[in-house]
Amino acid sequence: MDLIYRPRRLRRTASLRSMIQENTLSASDFIYPLFVHEGKDVQPIGAMPGINRWSLDSLLKEAERAWNLGIKCVVLFPKISESLKTEDGVECFNEKGLIPRAIRLLKKELPEMTVMTDVALDPYSSDGHDGIVSSEGVVLNDETIVNLCKQALVQAQSGADLIGPSDMMDGRVGAIREALDDEGFEHVGIISYTAKYSSAYYGPFREALDSAPKALNAKPIPKDKSTYQMNPANAREARIEAHLDEQEGADILMVKPGLAYMDIIYRLKQESDLPIAAYNVSGEYSMIKAAAAKSWIDEKAVVLETLLSFKRAGADLILTYHACDAAQWVRDV
Ligand code: PBG
Repeated sequence: MDLIYRPRRLRRTASLRSMIQENTLSASDFIYPLFVHEGKDVQPIGAMPGINRWSLDSLLKEAERAWNLGIKCVVLFPKISESLKTEDGVECFNEKGLIPRAIRLLKKELPEMTVMTDVALDPYSSDGHDGIVSSEGVVLNDETIVNLCKQALVQAQSGADLIGPSDMMDGRVGAIREALDDEGFEHVGIISYTAKYSSAYYGPFREALDSAPKALNAKPIPKDKSTYQMNPANAREARIEAHLDEQEGADILMVKPGLAYMDIIYRLKQESDLPIAAYNVSGEYSMIKAAAAKSWIDEKAVVLETLLSFKRAGADLILTYHACDAAQWVRDV
C-alpha cells in the first residue's frame, strides 16, 4: 500500500515505544490510604483483600514500608468505637483522639512523609453522615462547618501537611482556610474533594470504618448522601464546584470515585491549573482484587493500566489502595 503515515513505525521496538510514551507512573504519584483503629491487633478488612485496619504501632511500620517503596504521602482514616460516636461527631476534634495521635506519631518518626487527613464527621457520627443531621432529618451545612473547622485545626496542630475535606458541605474550603490561617497554619495545604459523587463504589470503605448511614432512634436519617454528594448524572456541576474551591483557596482538586469519572478528571484538568487528584476508591480496588483472586484478570497488568489511565485523563496524583503493590511494580519495570 502507498501509505505516507504508518503509526506502527513508532510501535516497532520497545525502545521506540518508550521514547514516545506520553504518560508514566511513579511512586510519587500515589497517595496511600491507611485505616487506623484503637486496638493492638491488625484487622484484615473482608471486602478489601490486602488492606487492614492498623494499630498505631503497625501503622508506623506500614507507613515506613510505603516510604521505602518511594511513596511520599499517606491519608489516614479512623475506625472509631461506637461509644465515642455522637450526633454532632465532636470526637473529630478531640486532640487526644485517634487521628491526632496517629499524625503526631507519623510526623515524629517519619517526618518527611506527607500526612494527609480526611475532614468529615462520618467516622464520628452516630448517624453515619458527613454532617450533623437535624431532628427533621436534614444534613445541616453551616452548623457542620463549625465542627469541620475545629477538626481541621486539630489535625494541623498535630502536624498534618494536607487537609482533605471530603464532606461536600458548601463553603467548607474557605472556612477551613480561614480557620487555619487565623491560627498560623498558612503553610498547611487543602486537598479538596471537589467533585465527590454519591456513589455505590464506597461500599467496602464504609465496611472498613463501619460508617454507613443508620437510624438508631426515632430521628429520620437520610438513607444515602445525595443531598450533599454529587449526582452521578452531572458533569457541568463539577466545574461549579471546582471554581468555588479555587476561589475559596484549595491547593489541589480531587475527583472521586475515579474510574467511572474519568471524564470529570479530564474536564477539571482543562478548567484548572491546580494539580488534580483522582481517588481510585474502595469498590474499584475490590473489583480488581475479586477478579484477580479468580484468575479472571492479570492483577498487576490491570492495576498498572488502570493507574496509568488516571494519569492520561489528567490526574497528577492518585489515591489508591494499590499504592504499595504498584510502587513495587513500577520500580521493577
Ligand atoms: C467519608 C469518606 C468516604 C470515602 C472517603 N472519605 C465515604 C463516603 O463518603 O461515604 C470513600 C473512600 C473509598 O471508598 O475508598 N467522608
